[in-house]
Amino acid sequence: MNQIQHVPVLLQEVLDTLQPSGDARILDLTLGLGGHAEALLAQCGPGACYLGVDRDPEARARAQARLGHDPRLTILASAHEDAFDHPGYQAWKAEHAPEGFDAILADLGVSTLQLRTADRGFSFANPGPLDMRMDTEHGPTALEWIAEQDDQTLADALYQFGEERASRPIARAILRRLAAGTLQTTADLASAIYEVLPKEIAKRKKQVDPATRSFQAIRIAVNGELARLGATVERAVTQLKPGGRLGVISFHSLEDRIVKQTLRRLAGTYDGPGRVAPVELPKVVKLIHPGGLAPTPEESQSNPPSRSARLRVAEHL
Ligand SMILES: C[S@@+](CC[C@H](N)C(=O)[O-])C[C@H]1O[C@@H](n2cnc3c(N)ncnc32)[C@H](O)[C@@H]1O
Repeated sequence: MNQIQHVPVLLQEVLDTLQPSGDARILDLTLGLGGHAEALLAQCGPGACYLGVDRDPEARARAQARLGHDPRLTILASAHEDAFDHPGYQAWKAEHAPEGFDAILADLGVSTLQLRTADRGFSFANPGPLDMRMDTEHGPTALEWIAEQDDQTLADALYQFGEERASRPIARAILRRLAAGTLQTTADLASAIYEVLPKEIAKRKKQVDPATRSFQAIRIAVNGELARLGATVERAVTQLKPGGRLGVISFHSLEDRIVKQTLRRLAGTYDGPGRVAPVELPKVVKLIHPGGLAPTPEESQSNPPSRSARLRVAEHL
């Protein structure tokens, strides 16, 4: 196993708001390398129980190696959107948390392990095969997914999931490379993007690398990252005890919008068009820090991937 570490983001804020203690029942929907898990478990007593879910086999193996000695932890292989219907989840919950969870955490997105391991194909900074799957055992790779698209559907995905304004010419450049047989690696994908948005110009203007938005879009599409996020949040709330808390950390505005709107609706706050809700919305949760929590300047500086993070927390009434 390589030595890549993932620094858990907003860790103190997670501990302060989820307030783990004693015999807490905790569900971690994105266990990753177990950084948050280790810190949350350290606050609890020997009677606590922690269920960690992740769909990435490598992340689960790393978390197992790091925390497997702790009898309070159980690791489940599942996507978070499928976890609640997983027989392993249902059996674990019936045995360990029949009254629900005290705390549920979802720390969305990719881990440093995924981004930095070239073979996983997430990054243009660490060139590798065009894969980008979080679950390396299922689903099409990024290359296979691109091969299923036409100009229109690829451009739509780049625009919708990357907010890329040059989505149409970029989609055409990517598909031209695919047809020519020169789209194999993340470096090839980045080159197709630079044909439309030259890297040097962005550098001169001190803009983000022009490949960033399209890489984010393709990753989101390949992993279906937004498709059922709202449903996961809604479902997670039903798994809390009264007074239990759900914390969700998102890393970009598309993700955060879904989390914010879902939690606001569950808090009975109308967020749609017009001034008044068409029907009175039931209040299922109360929002803790309604605007969400962002990293301190110190954290943003010491751990740059945390810069765009936002933690939203809701308490089940
Ligand atoms: C930001 S990392 C979590 C890091 C973790 N909190 C830690 O401190 O080590 C996100 C993790 O969530 C996993 N993940 C992302 N989307 C998922 C989903 N839909 N279902 C299950 N796991 C998911 C990824 O595989 C990754 O390991």
